[in-house]
Amino acid sequence: MKDADAVSLTVNGATVAVQSAPGRRLSDVLRSDLGLTGTKVGCDAGDCGTCTVLMDGAAVCACLTPLARAAGADIRTVEGLSEGAALSALQASFLRHGAAQCGICTPGMLMAATALLSRNPDPERAEVEEALGGVLCRCTGYAAIVDAVLDAPNPPPAAACPRAGGAVGAAVERLDGRPKVAGREIFGADHVPQGALLVRAIRSPHASARFRIGDVQAWVAAQAGPIRVFTAGDIPGDNRFGVIPVFRDQPALAESHVRMRGEAVALVAGDPEIVETLDLSDFPVAWEAQDGLADAETAKDPGAPQVHETRPGNILIAGKVRRGDPDQALSDAAHLAGATIRTACVEHAYIEPEAGAAWMDGETLVIQACTQAPAMDRDDTARVLGLAPDRVRIIPSASGGGFGSKLDLSLQPLIGLVTLKTGQPCRMAYSRRDSMTSTTKRHPATMSARAGADAAGRVTGMVFDGDFDTGAYASWGPTVAVRVPVHASGPYRVPNYHAEARAVHTNGPTSGAFRGFGVPQAAILQETLFDDLAEQAGIDRLRFRLLNALRDGDSSVCGQVLHGVGIHDCLTALQDPWTEALEAARRVNGRSGRVRRGVGIASCWYGCGNTALPNPSTIRIGLTPDGRLCLHQGATDIGQGANTVIAQIAADALGLPLSDVTLVGPDTALTPDCGKTSASRQTVITGKAALLAGAALRARVLALTNMGDGAALALEGRRLVVRDGPGQRVIDLAALPPDAHGYVLAAEESYDPPTRPLDENGQGVPYAVYGYGAQVVELDVDMTLGTVKVRRITAAHDLGRAINPMLAKGQIEGGIAQGLGMALMEEYIPGRTENLHDYLIPTAGDMPDIRSILIEKPDPEGPMGAKGLGEHVLIPTAPAILNAIRDASGARITRLPALPHRVLAAIRAASEGA
Ligand code: FES
Repeated sequence: MKDADAVSLTVNGATVAVQSAPGRRLSDVLRSDLGLTGTKVGCDAGDCGTCTVLMDGAAVCACLTPLARAAGADIRTVEGLSEGAALSALQASFLRHGAAQCGICTPGMLMAATALLSRNPDPERAEVEEALGGVLCRCTGYAAIVDAVLDAPNPPPAAACPRAGGAVGAAVERLDGRPKVAGREIFGADHVPQGALLVRAIRSPHASARFRIGDVQAWVAAQAGPIRVFTAGDIPGDNRFGVIPVFRDQPALAESHVRMRGEAVALVAGDPEIVETLDLSDFPVAWEAQDGLADAETAKDPGAPQVHETRPGNILIAGKVRRGDPDQALSDAAHLAGATIRTACVEHAYIEPEAGAAWMDGETLVIQACTQAPAMDRDDTARVLGLAPDRVRIIPSASGGGFGSKLDLSLQPLIGLVTLKTGQPCRMAYSRRDSMTSTTKRHPATMSARAGADAAGRVTGMVFDGDFDTGAYASWGPTVAVRVPVHASGPYRVPNYHAEARAVHTNGPTSGAFRGFGVPQAAILQETLFDDLAEQAGIDRLRFRLLNALRDGDSSVCGQVLHGVGIHDCLTALQDPWTEALEAARRVNGRSGRVRRGVGIASCWYGCGNTALPNPSTIRIGLTPDGRLCLHQGATDIGQGANTVIAQIAADALGLPLSDVTLVGPDTALTPDCGKTSASRQTVITGKAALLAGAALRARVLALTNMGDGAALALEGRRLVVRDGPGQRVIDLAALPPDAHGYVLAAEESYDPPTRPLDENGQGVPYAVYGYGAQVVELDVDMTLGTVKVRRITAAHDLGRAINPMLAKGQIEGGIAQGLGMALMEEYIPGRTENLHDYLIPTAGDMPDIRSILIEKPDPEGPMGAKGLGEHVLIPTAPAILNAIRDASGARITRLPALPHRVLAAIRAASEGA
C-alpha cells in the first residue's frame, strides 16, 4: 500500500499514520498495528462493549468503527488514562472498589465511564448505570463498578498495607489488580508470538452428522496464498480428551461423525492476512445430516439412536443418595408438596472468548491460553498430541472469566497440533459464535420431587429425581450427576431421603461445569417445595427454614456428621431484612395498581472441592539469596481472587507482610499443581496448602534461629531478622546455599481434603468443608405484562473466615447477577442465541440493590476457618426470585427462565386454579 493510503489519526495524544484497508475494524488496528492490546475484543458485533474507546470524546465500540471513520479523529484508549505508572483517579477507584475481577471488561468500562465523567463530573447512580449499560460484565454484578465511577472524583484511599500477621481479614486490593485497570493484563488473545500463524476451525453446522472431507489440496491451491489444513488424521496421539479419565470421549477434531453443532472437523493455518479473509463456507466437506436428539426425554426413549455406542439408553451415569425410608415418611406426612421443574441450557457468556498461542521452546511445546486447569490441560493436550506430559508447558494467560467452562480443553490441542506439525508459532482466538457453539453449558434439567413435613412443620422426607441433559460429550456430566443427589436436600435436616440424578446424552451442546455443578437447578425445585410446605403448615417461610436448618452435629443426607454449619446463622441474620421486606410489600400491595410486590427466600449449601475424590494442591514458598519471598501459586485466578487470597494466607502463616510476597505462576514449568479452579476449592484446598507451606517455612526459620513460636520476622534486604522480645537473630540469606529452585530457605506442602468414598447408597464423606448461605429477594411483577423487576437482594453467606471481605463481597454480587440471569432471562438455543445480542445476560440496569452480610462461622478443617464461596453465592438467587414471583402474583414458574410470557401464563393458571 502506498503512503497516500495511510489513514492519519491521533491515538492517546500522538499522531499516527496507519497503512491499512479503510474498512478494517479500529479495534483490530489498535491491537494489531499499534500494539494497544488494552482494548479487548469480546464479540466483534457491538454487543459486549468491551472494545469501547473514545472517539473525539464519545464512547464508541472500536469493533464497529471502520478505520476510515477514525481518520482525523482523536482516539483515546485505556492506555491513555494513566500517566506513566500513575493510575488516573478513575482507575485507582476501580482498584480500590474491587471493580475489576477478571478484568476483561475493565478497559471498556473505564472508557465508557470516562466519557460520562467528562460531560458530567458528578453523575447520579442511574446516570452511571445508563452510561455503562452498553458494556457487559459477567463477573462483578456491576455494583462495585458503579460505586467506583461515583467515587472517581475522590477515590477512597488505598487500604493500608497490613502488618505482618494482619493480612487475613483485610480488604486489600487485588495483588494482580493494577495491570487490569491499566490495560496491561495479558489475556489469551494478547500475546502474539513473532511470525505466528493464524488458526481457524471448520465447524459442524449440524447437531448430528456423518461427514467426508473432500479435495483439500484443490481448495488450498485455489486460495490467495499458502495455507495448511489439518484434520483428525494428522493428530499423532489419542484423539480423545475429557476432564474425567474414564469418560474421556471428545475428539479434538471429529473423525467422521459429529455429535453436536459447532464441533471442529478441520483446521486452517497460515499467514494471518490470508487466513483472516478466507471464506470457510466453501471448505470441501460433505455433510450427511442426521436427526439429532434434542432433549433428555427424547434421548431416553427406548428407540432413540445412541449418541455413544458404549452408553446404552444414552445414560452417561446416574448418581444416587438414599437414607432412611422416604416412601414411608411421605405417606405418613401431615403436609405434602410435589412439583416438576424444567431449567434452561445456560451459556457461561464470559466476555473473553477462548484464545491463546503456541510455540516451540526447544523440544517443549508451550501453550499460553486462558484456562482454569493448567495441569489438566498439559496432560490431556500431551495425550492427544502423542507427547510425554513434560514436553508440554502450559502458561495460563489471564482469563477473562471462566465460571467452569474453561476447565475443559478448547483450543489447546488445536494450536498445539499446528505448532507441532509446522514448527512455527501460531495463535487462535474463537469468535463469539465459535465460543458459544463449541464450549460447554449449564445442564438443562428436568426434575421432579416430593417432600413431606409433620404437623409441626418439620421436614420428614423427600424424593428427588432429575434428568440432566449432558449433551454430546461427557465433560463434567458425571460430576453433576453425583453432586446433585448429595445437595438436593438443601442445607436442611431431611431424615428420610432418596435422590437420583442422571446425566443423559443428547446432541445438544456439551454440558459441563458451571458455577454450582447442577446444585443451582436442584435448589430451585427444593426451595419451591419448602415454600409449599411452609404455607401448608401455616409457618412463616423463613421460620420454616430456620426450623429445619442443619445444625452442628447433625448428619447430612450422606450420613456425614457436620461441623461449622452456618445456615442457621445466615437465616437468623436475614430475619430483620425479611420482616422489613414483608412489611414494605404489604404497603405496596395495599395500593391498587398492576404492579405487585413479592418477597422470596432461599438457602444454599455447597461442598468445596471434588466429590469424595482426591484433589490435592501443592504450594511452594521460598526466600532467595537477595531477600525476595516467592510464592509459587499455581491456582488460576479467573477473577475470583486466588492470587490475593492465597498470598494473604501464606503471608500470615509465615509471619511476613503481604507486601513482601512476590507471586510466581501459574505456569506448569514453575508452579506445583494446585489443581483446577473449580468447585470453590481454591481458598479451602490451595489456601490450606499455603497455610501449611507458610507455617513450615516459619518453623524452619525459627528452628534455625532457635526462637520461640511468638517471634516476629522481618525481611531487611538480604537479611531475615527474627525478633522475640529482647532477643534478635539475623539470617544472612546471601550466605546460604540455594536449592534447585534458587531458594536458600523454602518449604513445599500439599493438602488433600479428607473425604470418604460414597457407598452404593451415597453414604460417606463427600466433602471436608461446606459453605452456606441464604438470600432474600424483593421484586415487582407487572401483572399485565408479566415483567419482573428485582429491587433488592439481601444475601447472608457463611464463608467461615472472610480472608478478604472486599473480594468476598464481589463474589456475592457477581454470583447474584448470574443467578438473576438464570432465573429471568438466559436460555441458550443452538442456532438461535449464539451471540450476545440474542443471548441476554444482565446489564448494569438489570441489577438490584445488593446488601451482603458476611457470616464467619469457622470450619474446623478450612484454612483459618475459611470455607468456599464462589459457587454458593449463585445458588439461592434463582429460587428466591421464583419464590418472590409466586409471593407477588401467585404464579408458579415451572419452566425457566421466567420470561414474561411464562410469567403471564403462570399468573393465568394460578387465577384459574384459585
Ligand atoms: Fe467484568 Fe470479568 S470483571 S467481565
